[in-house]
Amino acid sequence: MQKVAVVTGASRGIGHAISGELINSGFFVVGTSTSQAGAEKISKGISGLGFGMQLDIADTESIDHFANEVKERFEAPLVLINNAGITRDNIAIRMKNEEWDDVIETNLSGLFRITKAFLRGMIKARWGRIINLSSVVGSMGNPGQTNYAASKAGIEGYTRSLSLELGSRGITVNSIAPGYIKTEMTQEIAESNQQAMLNLIPLGRFGDAAEVAALASFLCNESSSYITGETIHINGGMYRS
Ligand SMILES: NC(=O)c1ccc[n+]([C@@H]2O[C@H](COP(=O)([O-])OP(=O)(O)OC[C@H]3O[C@@H](n4cnc5c(N)ncnc54)[C@H](OP(=O)(O)O)[C@@H]3O)[C@@H](O)[C@H]2O)c1
Repeated sequence: MQKVAVVTGASRGIGHAISGELINSGFFVVGTSTSQAGAEKISKGISGLGFGMQLDIADTESIDHFANEVKERFEAPLVLINNAGITRDNIAIRMKNEEWDDVIETNLSGLFRITKAFLRGMIKARWGRIINLSSVVGSMGNPGQTNYAASKAGIEGYTRSLSLELGSRGITVNSIAPGYIKTEMTQEIAESNQQAMLNLIPLGRFGDAAEVAALASFLCNESSSYITGETIHINGGMYRS
């Protein structure tokens, strides 16, 4: 039977690319957007092979509603790609409480809550794949991103601990830590800074969402069954763990 995979933040960028890869691997993909229009666009793009639904990962009620709908309308998902994420950059001395809270709520607390909502189904099936999108910034740090770096480092610690809890149930939990990938998130970076970043990347180019998607797809299939608790870096050589 076709397994259901949930991809949060599937309307564009890395989440969109991962959804396509998972569909090609035979999963039925439920992809999310914070807007109804975004959810409809996802449904249209993957017609019949998946479905788009609305979800605000920073809102506990939205998570509960989404998780119940998925389980009622489809099957309990056995693959969860925690991809949704935001930035609210500012130097620490000027960072507003809201900028800190928005990033931690969305990137870290929301990830914890949605994962919890789908764990029971995976434990019952004694099979599951959880993939959390971290960032190279979680390891390297980045000025102006104390909130984002803290959320991503938190995700990596969460991943390691959860993998220890779930290993005996056949569920693997891994993080992917991309470097600079060409998406709307990185388009916002000033051109002069983009050139400075390129100088730090041995492969001399930014990554492509399709390259991250190929790694996520590998972590979802049977050939990766012996990998768990890892953070896998994909960054053109700019950082090695
Ligand atoms: N791009 C990079 O270079 C890079 C590097 C390292 C890590 N990452 C990580 O990879 C992930 C994807 O990045 P990306 O570059 O593809 O980002 P993106 O292009 O900005 O897309 C972000 C996605 O997250 C969704 N989203 C935003 N806020 C949300 C919320 N409150 N609840 C649910 N969904 C929400 C958006 O949905 P809607 O706008 O449709 O509502 C969108 O689909 C993020 O976790 C990011 O931190 C990216």
